[in-house]
Amino acid sequence: MSDHDITLSVNGTTIARRVPARRTLLDFLRSDLGLTGTHAGCEHGVCGACTVLVDGLAVRSCLMFAVQADAAKVSTIEGVANEDGTLHPVQQAMHDNHGLQCGFCTPGIVMTLKSMTEAGKSASRDEMAAALSGHICRCTGYQGILKAVDLLSGRGE
Ligand code: FES
Ligand code: FES
Repeated sequence: MSDHDITLSVNGTTIARRVPARRTLLDFLRSDLGLTGTHAGCEHGVCGACTVLVDGLAVRSCLMFAVQADAAKVSTIEGVANEDGTLHPVQQAMHDNHGLQCGFCTPGIVMTLKSMTEAGKSASRDEMAAALSGHICRCTGYQGILKAVDLLSGRGE
């Protein structure tokens, strides 16, 4: 199996590494960089736990090879909070509305909602709710998460 040199930005830091051709972005983030906030669930594109942003788009890192992220800007849950330690609005909305229990699904959901609510984007409540269909949560019954979505789309109390 061949190795490849890649250089990418991860949460604003430039990273250069040599990786096997078939190493997934998920394994690269978790095992090579120690960014274990990106969770490994199904590892075949179903559960959404591994979702990160690549050049601003939400992607399943279990379905992408690290070499495909060469020259890209990758954002993970570790880079979401503000520099002063306060929570990102998506994190705050999930917190305030009890949108998590065990938290296994939470990083992926936060990354998806973040991608839809960044400056210049105005996803509707229904669009965000539909995006949740790509995230399996075994704990919450989704009601708290949907309340967070209501808040993020301007319909919360
Ligand atoms: S671990 Fe990637 S979608 Fe489930
Ligand atoms: S909070 Fe446990 S899987 Fe979603």
